[in-house]
Amino acid sequence: MSDSDEATAIQLIIDGTEVTGHAGQTILEIADSAGIYIPRLCWLENLTPFGACRVCVVRVNGRIHSACTLPATNGMVVENDTEELRGFRKNLIDMLFAEGNHFCMFCERSGACELQALAYRFGITAPTYPALFPHREIDATHPDILIDRNRCVLCARCIRASKESDGKGVFGFAGRGIQKHLIVSAEGGLAETNIDASDAAISACPTGTLLRKRTGFAVPVGERPFDRTPIGTEVESTTGPTPPHASTPTSTPAPAGKE
Ligand code: FES
Repeated sequence: MSDSDEATAIQLIIDGTEVTGHAGQTILEIADSAGIYIPRLCWLENLTPFGACRVCVVRVNGRIHSACTLPATNGMVVENDTEELRGFRKNLIDMLFAEGNHFCMFCERSGACELQALAYRFGITAPTYPALFPHREIDATHPDILIDRNRCVLCARCIRASKESDGKGVFGFAGRGIQKHLIVSAEGGLAETNIDASDAAISACPTGTLLRKRTGFAVPVGERPFDRTPIGTEVESTTGPTPPHASTPTSTPAPAGKE
């Protein structure tokens, strides 16, 4: 963003509310600062937007766009919290559960997993689509870090964080379509890369794909990040309205019978 962009204030309407931002900001960034939560999965603050998951889809002047990649312009009319868009997002999240192997009750990231938390928020209590049960590789070669690709949603957050925050480039993708998968930069597995357990790439993972060993289940049930507050509340609790569609995780059955 240039200095002149930063100085250019713009106004747009999101869900009927007039909000103000600066030229160069994305719709999602402006919504966040206004306390309006637009669901997201592949977006992570301080990383280059990737636009892969489409969970953040909104209608802008009637057309579908991803809010995390589209720069806002003056006068835009954005629809975010509509029945249609909630339906799109719910379907996308539902399909992610079917596409991978997500057994939340055994996962160390349960209660802190953004995919699980989105499922709760969208009221997904059982899978809609038949599970594909793909065969996916686990990489336990590293003494301090585990990769469980069964839980990978291909958000590329680790890829971008490793490059942009850690300056390393440990992760990448290989394959296409249903065969697309996470790879590391050494043939012998993660142990042969220069990754460190303190790397931002590991913290960037929204699911239980990248885990630090010997730290599992450290936080008791009831005190995990999404046990008390649904995902998105951190945005809505700033200045925004009460979330009309957020469910309380502790009172909602886990997705696909998982906890
Ligand atoms: Fe915008 Fe994933 S969060 S496409």
